[in-house]
Amino acid sequence: MENAARKVLVVGSGGREHALARVLLRGRDDREVIVTPGNGGIAGDRLRRADVAVSDTAGLVALAKREGVDLVVIGPEAPLCAGLSDALGAEGFVVFGASQAAARLEGSKAFLKEFAVRHGIPTAPFTVVRTVAEAEAAIAARGAPIVVKADGLCAGKGVVVAESVDEARTAARQMIEDRIFGDAGATVVIEEKIVGREVSVHAICDGERFVVLPPARDHKRVFDGDRGPNTGGMGVICPTDDVSPQLMERIVREVIAPTIEGMKSEGAPFRGVLFAGLMIDAAGIPLLLEHNVRFGDPECEAMMELFDCDVGAVLASAARGTLDPATVSFARDRYATVVILASAGYPDKPRLGDRIEGIDRAEALGATVHHAGTKREADGVLLTSGGRVLAVTASAGSLDEARAIAYRGADAIEFSGKHLRRDIGKTVA
Ligand code: AMP
Ligand code: GLY
Repeated sequence: MENAARKVLVVGSGGREHALARVLLRGRDDREVIVTPGNGGIAGDRLRRADVAVSDTAGLVALAKREGVDLVVIGPEAPLCAGLSDALGAEGFVVFGASQAAARLEGSKAFLKEFAVRHGIPTAPFTVVRTVAEAEAAIAARGAPIVVKADGLCAGKGVVVAESVDEARTAARQMIEDRIFGDAGATVVIEEKIVGREVSVHAICDGERFVVLPPARDHKRVFDGDRGPNTGGMGVICPTDDVSPQLMERIVREVIAPTIEGMKSEGAPFRGVLFAGLMIDAAGIPLLLEHNVRFGDPECEAMMELFDCDVGAVLASAARGTLDPATVSFARDRYATVVILASAGYPDKPRLGDRIEGIDRAEALGATVHHAGTKREADGVLLTSGGRVLAVTASAGSLDEARAIAYRGADAIEFSGKHLRRDIGKTVA
């Protein structure tokens, strides 16, 4: 069978990659999955780790060859922007992950904004600047509140939503002059702040055709009530009732389809997963905040609960350019919740090295616990090794039930300094 994908290499080390590995194995006892560099959760029947870093392109190509894999699934954005998909493709591998040219949608915010204008995709008004003087003029012209964004990849730290002109000027100066993000801040986007509800809409694409996944709501701030600094995401519900079928149709028509068509017409067809970060404004209009060229994390953990078909076959067909949207199905009337357990001090200074207990208890209560920042010591002890430690995931016939199972699981797990939000999936005013 063309799409059997018996041996799959997953590149990455987060909860997203653990969830991908597990869903690839679900119902497929003829499949084997290798995750590199993985984390403390990557072990089991037909599941193992390799030790090659996501930045080591030559090492990853060598690993794929050595293992003779049928499919490579690339998790994070950095290797996509660095051209890993192209390097593996040139060696004949089937790769689920955007080409370097297509990854510019995430790798350059200026490219994304100008692309949106070229293709009539609704987005906040903006100015692209390259000097402090240009930044100050743009900030003065637009006034506060205002958003200052470093052009390149900054591991989620390159966006400042400034409430005052002074704060915006300082942010722009730090990016352009002090280069706090290195060359990623050489170009800066100054844009209007949009107020509304944020939603994550993902589409699996084969360059031409695409299939849209159920919409998800992330919870980015570290504390309950959406307070505190932005994080990679503290929890997700999927699907979210923030997006009606009519709104979803509009998002597809105004954002997703023009992006796929636009990339094709510009000679960089998008193969992989497109993740549109959208703000739904007070009038119910969806505006594109950003595109990512990978699955969101923890959105991925939630969405993988809802697939009702072989995810490996779907990803392989998208990678080959032969996606048949009619073969992709999702469980109806099923809801997923992810609650992130984070380290004390996350996101600024996560404390590492604390002993984790209770994962088996959580899974016995019905949750699926994906590892993110964990490592397994030689003696089998599991320690925290990152800001986001575990993604406690559950799905059920109602959101309330899914949430209850995820929280029961989250409460069964212990490590010193454990931090979680208690309001994942609750309506925020
Ligand atoms: P990013 O690093 O591009 O994922 O952006 C981080 C976060 O900044 C987004 O998820 C939004 O919460 C926020 N953000 C980005 N652009 C805007 C905007 N124009 N208005 C309001 N919030 C924004
Ligand atoms: N959870 C948001 C992201 O992955 O960017």
